Formats: sequence, structure tokens, C-alpha cells
Amino acid sequence: MEFYTLENKNGLKLKLTNFGGIVSEIHVPDRDGKFADIALGFDSIEEYQDHNDAYFGAIIGRFGNRIGGCGFSVDGAEVSGLFDNDEGNHLHGGKVGFDKVAWTAERISGEGYTGVKLSYRSVDGEEGYPGNLDATVVYKLTDANEWVIEYEAVSDKATVYNPTNHSYFNLAGHDGASPLSHEVQLNAKLFTACDAGGIPTGEVLSVAGTDMDFRAAKTIGSAVDSADPVVSSRGGFDHNFVIDKKPGELGLAAVAYDAASGRELKVYTTEPGVQFYSGNFLDGSLTGKGGHVYEKRSGFCLETQHFPDSPNHGHFPMTTLRPGEVFCSKTVHVFGVR
Ligand code: GLA
Repeated sequence: MEFYTLENKNGLKLKLTNFGGIVSEIHVPDRDGKFADIALGFDSIEEYQDHNDAYFGAIIGRFGNRIGGCGFSVDGAEVSGLFDNDEGNHLHGGKVGFDKVAWTAERISGEGYTGVKLSYRSVDGEEGYPGNLDATVVYKLTDANEWVIEYEAVSDKATVYNPTNHSYFNLAGHDGASPLSHEVQLNAKLFTACDAGGIPTGEVLSVAGTDMDFRAAKTIGSAVDSADPVVSSRGGFDHNFVIDKKPGELGLAAVAYDAASGRELKVYTTEPGVQFYSGNFLDGSLTGKGGHVYEKRSGFCLETQHFPDSPNHGHFPMTTLRPGEVFCSKTVHVFGVR
């Protein structure tokens, strides 16, 4: 297991490891050119192997977020008994998901970027999922200050696939002031309603007139303690927002901005959804880089993905991957300042 550091012509740096495809550091400048590492994480690969319960920086697979009741069917084949790691439900790929496996890494470069291509074969039946799945994830750091993620996969049996990256951001710096003061804007007028366990009910609801409305930028802190049961039942934001764009098109999902530093993060994706998670389960029990203790809500995630539990909701965009098809997905993080 190794670390790889990418650096662009402007001095931005992204550090990752082939263990879990984890992005462990992202160094970006503020409006005065001062760099900070805005990704929550650990210093060593051993710590990631031992206790990355929060999924800091990791690739999530085979299925990002939850599968209700630990089962589903795909093209008539029943899949049951997926690992229950979330009170009767299956979360983030199971016991040994893609966040905990060794990927094969290869450095790549091209016009205006350097990167690493990660490859992993998940064998038929691994974590209960059908099909040998050959997955690649390419991370690129471009001279346009973008962190690009390109996911591809093929399977030899009908299966489901829904990868994401679980980076936690704090634009003030991973050890800086609380990101609850960050402004967040989500390009979403709808979200998928869920039960208290985070499993979609199947309803797709409007954000209008509720604290779920991030169409205009507002601080996370202004709404995270909302009395609205939609928010409070999840302990803050931990919801799948339906991105306003055409299926498959690379479109804007989210903008986060830290007025104090001027750092801005824009997230574009080809995925239909983004799980906005305000770090509600962080509780001070994880000590990260440089001995910094990650308190509740000290980082937030913008997990671009298909909707949670899609295999059990026929009207959600489909996550089925069949033999002969190539799964392709792209997410672009653009780091800027105001
Ligand atoms: C996702 C989930 C959360 C939580 C985190 C990891 O964001 O939606 O409920 O499981 O991952 O702690």
C-alpha cells in the first residue's frame, strides 16, 4: 500500500493511497494564496486500515449509500443477505467495501493533468453481489484546479453498481473553524424522502418552503438543526438531492463557499443525485491528521451518486449493469476563490 501525490502547475496538491482509493489530502489556496489541506483524514495508511469508520476520502462500492433490507433483485435474480452494517440495512458496500480493498495503481498523465488510475476486480459473490466486476477509478488533478474522478466498470453478470467518493471537506482547512459557517448551494428542487434509517420511501418531494431548500446559497449552520422532522430524523443533513439536469449530462450539483478564506468548491457530475451529508455522525472519537480531533459536523460530504436503494425502487434511475455494457460516470470538483 502506498501514497501518491499529484501536484498541478499552480501548486495544488492531492494525495491518495491505493488502499480504498482514499484521497487523504487536498491542498488548495485561499483568496490570498495561502494553502490549506481541506480534506479530513488520517496521516497513515495503517490508521485508514484500522479505523476509517467514517469513510474519509474513500471510494465507496459496490453500492454507495444504503440498500434497504439487505437485498434486491436484478433481472429476476434474487440477491439477499447482504451484510447488515446499518440497523437492518446494507451501507456503503458492506463489510469489506471498495473503501477497504487494495486497488492496483498506475500513474498517468496527459495534456494539462497528472493522475492515478486505480483498478480492482471484485469477484462474483464478493459482499454478496453478483458478477465479476472489473472497476477502474481515475483521479486527475488538472492545471485548471480541478479534481476529476472517472469511474468505469464492466460485469460478466447482471449486477448493480453505484460508486462514489466519500471525501469530507472543510474549506477552512481540515483542522480549521467549523464548516457550519460555509454557504452551500444545491442545484436541486427535489429530494428523495427517506425513513429514519435513511431508506427511501420512494417519494420524491419538493424542497420548496422547507429547510431542505438549498437552491439559494445559505450556511449549513442556518438549517442543520432544523425542527423539520425530515432533517432532524437524520440528525442534520444526510439526504439524497435530485440534481436539476438532464440524465447523464455533466452538470452542476453543488457549490460550497467559505466566506472567511474565500475558498470555493464547485461539484459537477454526470450522476443524477448528490448525498449532502453534514458529518452528523462524527463525534470526536476520530483523531486525524496532525492529532486533530474531528468533532461533530467538522466536515461535510457531497457524494455524487445514483439514489440510495435504487435497486428496490423501479422509478429511480437504474443502477443495473449488464454484461456487454460499460458503466461510465464522472465527477469534477473545481477549486476556486472569491
Ligand atoms: C453517508 C451516509 C451517512 C453515513 C456516512 C458515513 O453519508 O448517508 O448516513 O453513513 O455516509 O458515516
